Amino acid sequence: MSLLLGNTAPDFTIDSTAGQINFHEWAGDSWVFFFSHPADFTPVCTTEMGRTAQLAKEFAERNTKPLGLSTDTVEEHVKWIEDVNDTQSCDLQFPILADAEHKISQLYEMIHPGESETAAVRSVFIVDPSKKIRLTMTYPMSVGRNFDEILRVIDALQCGDEHRCALPADWRKGDAVIIPPSISNNEAKGLFLNGWDEIRPYLRTTRL
Ligand code: BEZ
Repeated sequence: MSLLLGNTAPDFTIDSTAGQINFHEWAGDSWVFFFSHPADFTPVCTTEMGRTAQLAKEFAERNTKPLGLSTDTVEEHVKWIEDVNDTQSCDLQFPILADAEHKISQLYEMIHPGESETAAVRSVFIVDPSKKIRLTMTYPMSVGRNFDEILRVIDALQCGDEHRCALPADWRKGDAVIIPPSISNNEAKGLFLNGWDEIRPYLRTTRL
């Protein structure tokens, strides 16, 4: 069964570089950036792990915990982290799940046989504090993910939740937001105190 937006992220318990992790308990009241990798000691993965470690402060500012997964063992992960730190000038502190038996990558449909029968593709699951899946992305093995976009969508999801707004193309924190069509002008008066521009009745933008 496919994991759809709004589904509860399946819970699991598995070894990681930070000891055994029960996903829901470990996530607690945080958002989670859960991302998978084909294998340890591979070049694209090394840059992605390094970038995530370099962005530790940015994830923390968004109350978001990174959680990596690679289909290798804890021992291999620990050796690989030394290389990641060395080559990417970082100090990788977030846990990496050791999914050598593919239990979690199968649960989360991270194995795409068209790419590889055994290694996970580059999946992203953004999970909110109620453990709902709020965003998914799937990249092929050959293309590293865009971490500006990952931070941007976390900002967008959190902004939408807080202000009941929607976010336009290429939105970034501080830009104008959209008043969703489900909110009437009457209700919008009480929610968006800066007023709004009505470009069309269905396209209203405002500043928070
Ligand atoms: C990489 O991370 O560089 C990679 C992994 C598997 C296939 C292709 C590239």
